[in-house]
Amino acid sequence: MKRLLRVSLLCVFVSGCGGIQSPLAPAGDQAAALHGLLLLMVAVCGVIYLLVLGGLAWSLWRRRPAAAGDNEPSDAALGRGLGVTAGVIVAGLTVLIVGSFLADRALFATRAQPAMEVRVTGHQWWWRIEYRDAAGRWIETANELHLPLGRTTRVLLGSADVIHSFWVPNVAGKIDMIPGRRNLLDLTPRRAGWYRGQCAEFCGAQHAHMALDVKVEDATTFDSWLAEQGRPAAAPAGPRAAQGAAVFAGPCGICHAVRGTPAAGRAGPDLTHLASRRSIAAGTLPMSRGGLQGWIAQPQALKPGTSMPAVPLRPADADALSSYLTTLR
Ligand code: CUA
Repeated sequence: MKRLLRVSLLCVFVSGCGGIQSPLAPAGDQAAALHGLLLLMVAVCGVIYLLVLGGLAWSLWRRRPAAAGDNEPSDAALGRGLGVTAGVIVAGLTVLIVGSFLADRALFATRAQPAMEVRVTGHQWWWRIEYRDAAGRWIETANELHLPLGRTTRVLLGSADVIHSFWVPNVAGKIDMIPGRRNLLDLTPRRAGWYRGQCAEFCGAQHAHMALDVKVEDATTFDSWLAEQGRPAAAPAGPRAAQGAAVFAGPCGICHAVRGTPAAGRAGPDLTHLASRRSIAAGTLPMSRGGLQGWIAQPQALKPGTSMPAVPLRPADADALSSYLTTLR
C-alpha cells in the first residue's frame, strides 16, 4: 500500500513534465534553449533556497545561553556573514544573466536563413495560416500548422482584430500577435509528432477555444502535404456530395473559401482541405461528420460569440452539406 502511494505521488509529481503542450518536453531548438534556461533558474534558485534554509536551521540549532551577556556577534563575524551572502547573490545573478544571454543568442541564432515562411494571423477565435511555396505563391489553410522536421520555418505573426498570442510550448516560447504589425518567430522542430498550441493572451469570450493543432513531420511528408494543400478541392463525388456543394456555395461561401469552387469568402477559415485537419473550430471539436453536423447546427451553443452564425437548413441539406465537407481532404 505504501509503495502504491509512493508511486502515485511520483506520478502526480512528474505528470506535468511531458505531454503535447508542455515546455518541459522540448521538441525543437528554441524550446530546448528555453528549457535549458528554466532548468538553470530552478537549479540556481534551488541552491539559494537550500542555503537560506540551511542557515536558518543552523541558527536555530546553535542556541546561545539565555543569560549570556555577549550575544551580539562580533563585527568580524558580521562582516564575514555579509560577505558570504553578497558573494552568493552576485554569483547566482551572474550565472542567471549569462544563462539568459546564451539562451537569447540560441533563440535568434537561426534567423539568418529560414527554409520557409508561414504567415499566421489571429482572428477571434481561429488561426489563418498561409504558407509561401517554392514558387512564391501563398497557400491558405487554418487552425492546423504543419512543420518540417529539422528545417527552420519563419513564422510571421499578426492579428486581424485584437491582441492574441502564439504559443506552442513544445516547439518555442510565446510571442504576441498584434494588429498592424508582424512579429517574427523561427521554429526548428527536432521531434516528430502532434503538439498543441494555444492562444496565450486573453482575447475575448472564446479565448480558451482558440487552440492550434501542430504537426511536426519529416520533410518528405511535409512537402507532399503542402503540395496537396496547394491543390484546389476535388469535384464532389456523387449526387449527395454535389447537393452538399450546392448548399455550401450559397450561405457558407459568403464567409468561407473552397478553392476550385465559387465559394471564395475571406471572413472565415479556408475550408479547401477541411477534412484533412484533425479538429474543427480551432480545436473545439474533433473532425468527424457528427462534429461538423453539430457545429453547423448550433455554433453559438458550442462556442458562444463566434462569428459563425447558425444557418437554417433543411435536414436533408444539412446532411448533404456535412457529407460534402468530409470529402474535402
Ligand atoms: Cu486569441 Cu486568446
